[in-house]
Amino acid sequence: MDSIFRKDVLRGKIALITGGGSGIGLEISKCLVEHGAKAVILGRNLKRLEDALAHFQKGTCSAAQCDVRNTDQVAKAVKQAMDQHGKIDILINCAAGNFLAPFETLSSKGFKTVIEIDTIGTFNVTKEVFTQSMKSGGGIIINISSTLQMPAVNMISHAAAAKAAIDSLTRSLAVELGPKRIRVNGVAPGMIEGTEGLSRLNPAKDVKLDGRVPQIPLQRSGKKSEIAQAVLFLILAEYITGQTLVVDGGLVLSFPNFTLAFPDVFQAWSSKL
Ligand code: NAP
Ligand code: COA
Repeated sequence: MDSIFRKDVLRGKIALITGGGSGIGLEISKCLVEHGAKAVILGRNLKRLEDALAHFQKGTCSAAQCDVRNTDQVAKAVKQAMDQHGKIDILINCAAGNFLAPFETLSSKGFKTVIEIDTIGTFNVTKEVFTQSMKSGGGIIINISSTLQMPAVNMISHAAAAKAAIDSLTRSLAVELGPKRIRVNGVAPGMIEGTEGLSRLNPAKDVKLDGRVPQIPLQRSGKKSEIAQAVLFLILAEYITGQTLVVDGGLVLSFPNFTLAFPDVFQAWSSKL
């Protein structure tokens, strides 16, 4: 996908991307580097991070292993980025976990796990980046949300609650941190082709989504590059803060509840992923 932005718009900027080792987070990292930034990608799996680095020219991207639920690991990873670059201008909170599970069988631990990765993880990394860099230097934070909580979908009460809390955090921190020259926005992807997130929520794994998808007003699933471009837009839009931009081809406006339409398929598929 051709970029509508100048290739050097992020020259001199340092970006830290949680979940940058795969899927949408990796695509965002590549997009920011292609536009002049240097990136530091975070994730739990070192092999995945090392494989991701192969997508970048030497010196443009580095990796730090960390579980966003662990505050000590987060502090260490952010310090590593600070030691390397001296500042963090852009934070992308993209790390998340999800699985389909009916409320009836979802355990307290399952619910808590997703809240801890998505919501508390977003808080942990934001807090550390704020303390170590943005408090004095300003910056821009983009939280990757979803459309699952707008309005609501079966079997994802945990992830919907986690993302709704993230949207709330986006607004609260925009208000509180605006005077410190920190903007906070969100991007809410719809069905994004070729991602772990979509494959986990699409029980008909053998049904390819890259053709026509009539239930989406724009008739197709989205591309990772389209999420990355939306993130870049919000990084550059200097008078926008506290907003979560939905990038879903219009799906949420006409959300059919697939899980109600095909209860047997979803029930069978919601066994442990
Ligand atoms: P993905 O490739 O599985 O991305 C999730 C990333 O988060 C992975 O790189 C994973 O790396 C990292 N991660 C998970 N738990 C972590 C933890 N505790 N600490 C640190 N890193 C952790 O899935 P994706 O589909 O691209 O999703 C990316 C984002 O887009 C998520 O926020 C998701 O909710 C959102 N989203 C996706 C879609 C979609 O259609 N795909 C739709 C709406 C929203 P490790 O396993 O190595 O830690
Ligand atoms: N159905 C119901 N409950 C599930 C489940 C499933 N498919 N998968 C996990 N759980 C629950 C269980 O209760 C489990 O605890 P228990 O089995 O010990 O009682 C609890 O979640 C924690 O699972 P665990 O595997 O120990 O957590 P983890 O921290 O290793 O992994 C996940 C977190 C479960 C979110 C894992 O799927 C993950 O790492 N996901 C990252 C990738 C991803 O989800 N990408 C898509 C982003 S949208």
